[in-house]
Amino acid sequence: MEAIPTERLPAHVAIIMDGNGRWAEARGLDRSAGHEAGEQALFDVVEGALEAGLGYLSVYAFSTENWARPQSEVEFLLGFNRKLLRERRDYMVERGVRIRRIGRRYPVPDDVLEEFDAAEAATASNGTLFLQVCFNYGGRAELEDAAKAGSIPDNLYAPDAPDVDLLIRTSGEKRLSNFLLWQSAYAELYFTEKLWPDFKRDALFEALRDYARRRRRFGGL
Ligand code: FPP
Repeated sequence: MEAIPTERLPAHVAIIMDGNGRWAEARGLDRSAGHEAGEQALFDVVEGALEAGLGYLSVYAFSTENWARPQSEVEFLLGFNRKLLRERRDYMVERGVRIRRIGRRYPVPDDVLEEFDAAEAATASNGTLFLQVCFNYGGRAELEDAAKAGSIPDNLYAPDAPDVDLLIRTSGEKRLSNFLLWQSAYAELYFTEKLWPDFKRDALFEALRDYARRRRRFGGL
C-alpha cells in the first residue's frame, strides 16, 4: 500500500462483516462455509491493519440480535468463534495484536467466554493493534449498561478506545444494526457491495484511501 500519512489515518476502524451467508449460498455451499471464508478475510484484514498502522479495529462478530437465528446456526457460530480464538491466539501474540471482547457476558456459554478470556490474557501486553471483537454486543445494551453505572462515556465497555472514525459495512446493506452507536456518532460511513469473504486487505486500503480524502467537520464549518 502507498503509505497514508498518519494524520490522515483513522484512529479507530469498525467493521460490520456482512454477507457470509450470501457468499456461501451463491456457491451452493452451507452458510457455515461462508463464515469460514469470512475468517480468512478477517485475518487478511488484520494483516492489512497492521501494515497500515491502525491502532483500533472493531469487528461485529455476534450481535445481541443474532440469538434469533436458527439454533443450528447459533450453535455453529458459538463453536466457530471459540475454535477461531484458540487457533489464532499464538498468531495474535506474535503479531502484537491485543484482543478485547466487547459485549455482555450473559448468556454467552462459559466455554466461549473462557476462550475470549484466555485470548485477552495471552495478548494483554501487546500494544500494536487492538482487535475489539464485539460479541453478544448491542449498542443499546451497552448504553443501558453504561447509564445504569453512571456517566456513559466512562462506562462504555471499552471506555479508553477512541471514537470510531471510519465505519465499514460490506454486502451492500446500508444500516448501523445497533453497532457502536455512541462511538460512531461522527463516524465516516463506507459501504461496499463486496460480500465479507471477498473483503481482503486491498479492500481495506481502498476504504482507508477514501477516508483520507474526506473532510470532516464535526458539526463545525
Ligand atoms: C455476517 O454474515 C457475519 C457474521 C454473523 C459474523 C462472522 C464472524 C467472523 C467472520 C469471525 C469473528 C471473529 C473473531 C475474532 C471471534 P451473515 O451470516 O449475516 O451473512 P448474510 O447477511 O449473507 O446472511
